[in-house]
Amino acid sequence: MYNSKIIGLGKYLPENVVTNDDLSKMMDTNDAWIQERTGIKERRWIKEGTEDTSAVMGAKASRMAIERSGLSKDDIDFIVFATMTPDYYFPGCGVQLQDMLDMKNVGAIDIRNQCSGFVYAISVADQFIKTGMYKNILVVGAEYHSNGLDKSTRGRGVTVIFGDGAGACILTREEDDKRGILSTHLHSEGKYADKLIVESPSIRHWVPEILEAGEEDTSYFPYMDGTFVFKHAVVRFSEVIIEGLMKNGIQKEAIDMLIPHQANLRIAQFIQKKFALRDDQVFNNIMKYGNTTAASVIIALTEAWEEGKIKEGDTIVLAAFGSGFTWGSVIIKW
Ligand code: ACO
Repeated sequence: MYNSKIIGLGKYLPENVVTNDDLSKMMDTNDAWIQERTGIKERRWIKEGTEDTSAVMGAKASRMAIERSGLSKDDIDFIVFATMTPDYYFPGCGVQLQDMLDMKNVGAIDIRNQCSGFVYAISVADQFIKTGMYKNILVVGAEYHSNGLDKSTRGRGVTVIFGDGAGACILTREEDDKRGILSTHLHSEGKYADKLIVESPSIRHWVPEILEAGEEDTSYFPYMDGTFVFKHAVVRFSEVIIEGLMKNGIQKEAIDMLIPHQANLRIAQFIQKKFALRDDQVFNNIMKYGNTTAASVIIALTEAWEEGKIKEGDTIVLAAFGSGFTWGSVIIKW
């Protein structure tokens, strides 16, 4: 059995910045409400007419990650692509990425676990490396939300929080079992699937039905029972961080950097307070990018590393919660 470790981090954010004031011109909302409830100041939304999609942004972030890893694309043995906004109903973004990067005919899978998608993706890749089946795996999280949001006042409770973007990293074999990814912890509770959902188009509710229903049908926009999700998020985040720390005999004081999924700054602040962590022990960038779901943890990890906030030997905790419900954590000795 091997460990895996992260080398080579990359990210891509579309250029187009959408501020809270910009949103208030589309719907009945305002900067004060959005900042107070979520901490978000602005987000990136792909501008119509540009080439960007989840797969394209994922490819851009991947190129950066591969270059920074010192490996070549031909050294990559497998692709794991996390997204809830794939370019097509099928096939998934993983195979598009394989083509866009002109990679060998390596295997590629998509992970559809929404906000915890990247944590799940890392865990899947880690298992392949642990068993020795693969040595170098490209792990990607990318989301193109803006094209699928209700930009009228009706959708404001959800639309203001989501942003577009992508992040990627290379996971490689680590011989030292006390370094790299120490453990991953995954959970789900499907009975709450309808609390945060994009219901259609789906085999249950296909395009002709949507068209027939006309304006009244909003099932193809994200629906979220925000308060319900919030209450579950703070509990599950805490549980799964504790689970990871206990598994490895790590005290919370020993966390060098907690990178929570960027769902809402208030959730991150609640967790920070609960674990009595200092500001320099928690990384947040939701203010700039909003919630980029499966891309959020990897974009944040990449930025924390770029800013010199992650050093060799550090104990890093990744944690996420989202639609499903699904949640998880990753404990890393960097
Ligand atoms: N601007 C102005 N007013 C608004 C807006 C807006 N953008 N959105 C909602 N409101 C209004 C509502 O209509 C409501 O008005 P009312 O009291 O007159 O009915 C009031 O503000 C309060 O609305 P709530 O939805 O109760 O607001 P809340 O304080 O719960 O904040 C939020 C909403 C920010 C979405 C919060 O619930 C949240 O962050 N939830 C968790 C999100 C999360 O963790 N998601 C998981 C990841 S996402 C994924 O997995 C895909």
